[in-house]
Amino acid sequence: MRMVLDMDTGVDDAVAMVLAMNSPEFEIEAITTVAGNAPVVQCTRNSLLITELLRPWDPPPVAHGACEPLVQSLIIAPEVHGHDGLGGLLDTLPTPHHAADSRPAVELITAIPHDGPDDVSLVASGPLTNLAIALRTDPTAMAAYRRIVVMGGAFNVPGNTGPVAEFNFYVDPEAASEVLSSGLDITIIPLDVTTSTALTRETLETLVKSGKRTDIPAPARPGRNLAAILYRALDYYMNFQEDESGLNGGFMHDALAVAAALFPSMITTRPASVEVVTSGPARGRSLVLPPVNGRAVNIAIGLDAGAFHRVLEERVLAPVWGST
Ligand code: BDR
Ligand code: CA
Repeated sequence: MRMVLDMDTGVDDAVAMVLAMNSPEFEIEAITTVAGNAPVVQCTRNSLLITELLRPWDPPPVAHGACEPLVQSLIIAPEVHGHDGLGGLLDTLPTPHHAADSRPAVELITAIPHDGPDDVSLVASGPLTNLAIALRTDPTAMAAYRRIVVMGGAFNVPGNTGPVAEFNFYVDPEAASEVLSSGLDITIIPLDVTTSTALTRETLETLVKSGKRTDIPAPARPGRNLAAILYRALDYYMNFQEDESGLNGGFMHDALAVAAALFPSMITTRPASVEVVTSGPARGRSLVLPPVNGRAVNIAIGLDAGAFHRVLEERVLAPVWGST
């Protein structure tokens, strides 16, 4: 399965990237970045660093994308992900060896060659700015994607950016609205399912302690050590969620989007038309309307949480913290 990842590379995006890159079913064609959890420069740097730590010999291309939403001013989430998107580690992180691709993200997204209608899929785990621009620029190229899996939205649960909106749709509601009404084959993974299960701190700590990497929390400077970088980023992310809601762990929103692209049977979906409110106090809110001709998307409404945690453990936790 050939795959493009479009990310605002914060902590759960980083976990999603590890999951995708450790999945032999996927050939990662490109990782494109978009402003969201952190400024896009930082998201690009985080993506370059993680990809080359995972696969130093042949990292996939990383392309720099939109630095601000289509219409609204950028809002970032330093309280959730750190000012740099990786738990505030910026000053201690090594500079990536590789540079970003010379092409902008939208050019790369629309230039991916498709051999047939079932060829390449895309997971979008940040605001949908790049995808909306790609649709305006080259709708034919976008229609060639087999499926687009989008992490975003909150339907029957409270929002995480104000009372009714989910962060990705809140940051760029115009882009979300354009993409979701495009008629492309889209599956939405909303907060309704991503917050139905969490990676607990206990699971993380147990794996870290049982693994070979006993040095993880100790060094102040994690250096070129993915286990240390990811552990410290997750620690920051989990601390925020504990302060905010008492949850002793972290929601793996974006990793679930990758897992659902990998194993569609992990989720149950229903078709619907979705409208995103673009302004006013309900900005970013996602509303379900009856399906309109050809404009329906699939919304995830159920999840096999056990299967998701097995995939997370086998492909992220165990490989990174060396317990296998
Ligand atoms: C989404 O917002 C970001 O903070 C996360 O990375 C995820 O994509 C959850 O609302
Ligand atoms: Ca994200």
